[in-house]
Amino acid sequence: MTQKILEVVQTTILKEKPDPSTLEFGKHFSDHMFMMDYTSEEGWHQPRVVPYQSLTLEPAAMVFHYGQTVFEGLKAYRSSNGDIRLFRPEENFKRLNQSCDRLSIPKVNEEAMLEYLKEFVKLDKDWIPKEKGMSLYIRPFIISTEATLDVSPSRAYTLMIILSPVGSFYKGGIDPVSIFVENEYTRAAPGGTGNAKTAGNYSGAYKAQERASSHKKDQVLWLDGVEKKYVEEVGSMNVFFKINDEIHTPALNGSILEGITRKSVIELLESEGMSVCERSISIDEVIAANENGSLQEMFGTGTAAVISPVGRLEYKGRDYEINNGKMGETASWLHETLVGIQTGALDDPFGWSIE
Ligand code: COI
Repeated sequence: MTQKILEVVQTTILKEKPDPSTLEFGKHFSDHMFMMDYTSEEGWHQPRVVPYQSLTLEPAAMVFHYGQTVFEGLKAYRSSNGDIRLFRPEENFKRLNQSCDRLSIPKVNEEAMLEYLKEFVKLDKDWIPKEKGMSLYIRPFIISTEATLDVSPSRAYTLMIILSPVGSFYKGGIDPVSIFVENEYTRAAPGGTGNAKTAGNYSGAYKAQERASSHKKDQVLWLDGVEKKYVEEVGSMNVFFKINDEIHTPALNGSILEGITRKSVIELLESEGMSVCERSISIDEVIAANENGSLQEMFGTGTAAVISPVGRLEYKGRDYEINNGKMGETASWLHETLVGIQTGALDDPFGWSIE
């Protein structure tokens, strides 16, 4: 795959930027969007940046019927000296290709995509919020566009990237969230699509989220799809526990998404000499550790929220408070360090933050 020249069609009307103090996650989009098409004859072709606009698709476009689609999420930050930084973007394109593989979508050229993204973000750089805690959320995604109801992989796709200025993912900032342990609905099963970033994994979670909300909980804690015994993810994030001064996280088992923040948290802790134990963690063990006082912290990790402490948990009709409902020192240190590296405020010995 050779890299194609990026064509840029600039908008003539710049949009009004939202007020940063009332910014909601994913509600506003920048002036432009990136697009690239795929056909079986031409492969991926015509990379271009065009004004942000609506799409025209046939009602028969396959994405509407069988959900052959994948997406990614990453962020651009503005450092205090004005540099623009991307956090481990090559990992996102690598994971995009892993998701493509699972969904039978043709893979993209990861190096070329990174170059296109850099040019695109530079063009819309005025959309990167300067305020603390804010960033530009980048959403690459691919849809299947062939117009047929045939149940087989599409022969045409469009890859797009849209940019959205964002503040905190949760309305409550990084206040600890409450979670409902879901033991009826399943997010993902062995051999399924749980480790791909694909639409159905998220819409299939809405019913459980509804139940969590009706129990006045912010998020769902997902258990494994076979025995409903082992913890897998929290909401749309990976999950970590601090038990007896050691950090534990569910091992990647095919139904858990390989989070880039998860990977960064593990590498960061290991660089500080703390080992992270990746293993199966049962919900009964978590409850027992909380009861006997050895569960010191529980937190979620993801691109959108970075680190999200868990302060309360409901399981089988009982409510449990974790770490007195407060954010623990490890979650707090991880948040500060990761955001520091992401925004260029702290040294980055890992080379994660790319200018
Ligand atoms: C993330 O934080 O990484 C997510 O996947 C959340 C996103 C679906 C909004």
